Amino acid sequence: MSAARRPLVAGNWKMNGLKASVGEIGAMVRGFDAALAAKIDLLICPPATLIGQAAAAAEGKIAVGAQDCHTKEKGAHTGDLSAQMLADAGATAVLLGHSERRADHGESDATVRAKAEAAWRGGLLAVICVGESADQRKAGQHKDVVAAQVQASVPDNATAENTVIAYEPIWAIGTGLVPTPADVAEVHGAIRAVLAQRFGATAQGMRILYGGSVKPDNAKALLGATDVDGALVGGASLKADDFLAIARAYL
Ligand code: PGA
Repeated sequence: MSAARRPLVAGNWKMNGLKASVGEIGAMVRGFDAALAAKIDLLICPPATLIGQAAAAAEGKIAVGAQDCHTKEKGAHTGDLSAQMLADAGATAVLLGHSERRADHGESDATVRAKAEAAWRGGLLAVICVGESADQRKAGQHKDVVAAQVQASVPDNATAENTVIAYEPIWAIGTGLVPTPADVAEVHGAIRAVLAQRFGATAQGMRILYGGSVKPDNAKALLGATDVDGALVGGASLKADDFLAIARAYL
């Protein structure tokens, strides 16, 4: 981690959480003490139904994000939500191209790229997710696969202010399996090389998060790997105690 890059610990609640769960965000705010807030940013991405209440509970101390947005601002797209709507509800960021969306909704790199541009137009930080499958890892293709995803999913005009990359090996998501810190550093280095080739010096300021089975007991090792600027946490972000324990890896 470079001193210029402020770490970001982000939580992805996926399709979990009812109104009663918003209390966890209040607990996160209470636990996000001055020592922690001096060092890192926190972001929590609840289901869209809870964004308004989550933003109120977050009191401006923790950022609130969405888990997807449409490529358009408005129109005849039943069931979809635009970046403008999410921002209006209280979101300041949006996860894009999560492997579950790529798999469940057939989202291509081109779609993710268009969504990132839409997110920027709506004033949202785009958190663009990439990661290889177990088969691609076994075949030794992980670096090439991830580099190609970054090339095609990240739009031109990406900056450290409007974009964060999240590296999430698919085989590590929700499985309890994690790469070694050296494996994480290898892929993060490859991602930064692609960013540097496209965006020059700007790439040094861009945050690259690791995601996939980040837990309180492995956070320090994973977050301490070279070129890792934070975490994208699924299951362990549902409870304030676990999420804060991961964030405290930075203390
Ligand atoms: P996990 O999910 O922490 O539950 O593995 C991570 C993610 O999918 O963002």
